[in-house]
Amino acid sequence: MSHPLRASVVGCGVFGRNHARVYRQLQQEGLGVGLAGVHDANNDRAQAVAREFSTQAFSSLAELAGHVDAASVAVPTSAHFPVSAQLMQAGIDVLIEKPLAASLQEANEVVAAAERTGRIAQVGHLERFNPAVLAATPLVTRPMFFEVHRLSVFTPRSLDVDVVMDLMIHDLDVVLALVQSSVHAIHAVGLPVISNKVDIANARVEFENGCVANFTASRVSTERVRKLRFFQPHEYISIDYARQDVIKIQVDAAAAAALLRGEAPKSANPAGISISKPEVRQQEPLRAEIEAFLDAVRRRSSPKVTLADGRNALQLALQINAAIGEHHRRAGLGHSKK
Ligand SMILES: NC(=O)c1ccc[n+]([C@@H]2O[C@H](COP(=O)([O-])OP(=O)(O)OC[C@H]3O[C@@H](n4cnc5c(N)ncnc54)[C@H](O)[C@@H]3O)[C@@H](O)[C@H]2O)c1
Repeated sequence: MSHPLRASVVGCGVFGRNHARVYRQLQQEGLGVGLAGVHDANNDRAQAVAREFSTQAFSSLAELAGHVDAASVAVPTSAHFPVSAQLMQAGIDVLIEKPLAASLQEANEVVAAAERTGRIAQVGHLERFNPAVLAATPLVTRPMFFEVHRLSVFTPRSLDVDVVMDLMIHDLDVVLALVQSSVHAIHAVGLPVISNKVDIANARVEFENGCVANFTASRVSTERVRKLRFFQPHEYISIDYARQDVIKIQVDAAAAAALLRGEAPKSANPAGISISKPEVRQQEPLRAEIEAFLDAVRRRSSPKVTLADGRNALQLALQINAAIGEHHRRAGLGHSKK
């Protein structure tokens, strides 16, 4: 590699600041990247983040072009498409925060822009890089039932989208990656609580291969929970995203069958139940995500979370929102505030 990659962050709000922190950290560790500058529509915010991470603030995207090779796009979802398209047009590879875009049409435009410009574009589905998800993925055989909870306390952020697009989409992406089947049917319910969009939602998604996934997401909870649990033949696997741990409970099929036949137990553990905790290499998911992005940029290879993945998760989120709207009408809840 001839020179360190020149990275930047567009959108210096709460999450963009985290991207800037990680790029700066990689720079300080001499890992072939430098934080070349940041930009925010609010110049004071850009200046503050630039000061904190010893870089420069660009006053516009046009000014940034030519000075950077790659950029994280951490602007509100409604601006993902125009900002990403402009960056790619200027020859810059992009890591676009989730959800990929505000609509499927905009997502298609992002895909077209990446194809037209030959840029690398990764979608920021962070949980794919969660060490617990990475440790559980090789354990997947035939998941048939998922129970997923993502509850958080209210903050006045990401209110340009509802809770499905804001939070549930993390789990939609992970489950789509683990199930590898298309969606057969969706039932959903959701309500606005504090904002004027849906703040709490539950969706039951049935896949063509018979798997059923039950998702609950809330941004108005009193507690913080991020858990994904699934059952597959003779096994139960539980992922705690926040604690970054995995528990696997397995039943010995032969021992369980003997038990059901009424045979005398051969041990104190007649169903042969074993509980194990696969090793998890703890690390910051955002750092792993950014390192994977930079690796794809250097190799000009397909990123781990592709635009197609981002589009699929967005499509499912929009289908769930349509099902929530349908439920509103059926239940006579009046004008949907989605
Ligand atoms: N992966 C995750 O876990 C995760 C977590 C939080 C947020 N996010 C995503 O990150 C994005 C930003 O979220 P946030 O919570 O940091 O929001 P935020 O409101 O704190 O920050 C957004 C920033 O973008 C700036 N901005 C708005 N339009 C712009 C434009 N056209 N050009 C340049 N700057 C612009 C705003 O001034 C603001 O500083 C959202 O897409 C959100 O979904 C992802």
